Amino acid sequence: MFTIRKLTPQDVDLVYEFSTEAQTRKMSLNQNSIPYASHLVWYGSFLKSANVGLIVEEHDIPIAFFRVASDGEVSITLNKDYRSKGLSHLIVNQSIHTSREFFTPELYIAFIRPENTPSIKCFTKAGFKQNGEQIVRGVKCLRFEKTFYDADGEVSE
Ligand SMILES: CC(C)(COP(=O)(O)OP(=O)(O)OC[C@H]1O[C@@H](n2cnc3c(N)ncnc32)[C@H](O)[C@@H]1OP(=O)(O)O)[C@@H](O)C(=O)NCCC(=O)NCCS
Repeated sequence: MFTIRKLTPQDVDLVYEFSTEAQTRKMSLNQNSIPYASHLVWYGSFLKSANVGLIVEEHDIPIAFFRVASDGEVSITLNKDYRSKGLSHLIVNQSIHTSREFFTPELYIAFIRPENTPSIKCFTKAGFKQNGEQIVRGVKCLRFEKTFYDADGEVSE
């Protein structure tokens, strides 16, 4: 359905566009605006890190930026022209599936602002379960988790 590929250095401006979109900033833990120069520094270190960044495309149009940090924290930003179409949980699931080519953390964790109803619904439909609340980087969030490990520590599909 979608094409999913790993970030490349050429995606620097595309990711800047995703990251600076108004609703994305509003729902981020850090709501500050992002100067382009800081983005360049962040992007360079992101590409060198163990974090996985993916671009989801449909007919060559970038429709989402998805990332999984090495500690399992995930986040998604959907192209605003593709929002409210009920696609987000499918994109999360397909992105997680692709990211597992690189690694499978013990837990996938999404920290979501309590007012971010679309995100709560998206991750719930993608099989995440709420496990309480947590203050993350100074912000009260709902903590959602998903794992592919069973009680015996075996990884399932
Ligand atoms: C979060 C995000 C990926 C969700 O994608 P989306 O396309 O908006 O949501 P969907 O169309 O898949 O809908 C998910 C659910 O939220 C509901 N929803 C969508 N927009 C809504 C809104 N503005 N208010 C309330 N509910 C809303 C939908 O009705 C749907 O509900 P249902 O499952 O009961 O049918 C997208 O809104 C986004 O990129 N937001 C900005 C970045 C962000 O918040 N990222 C998540 C950080 S944790």
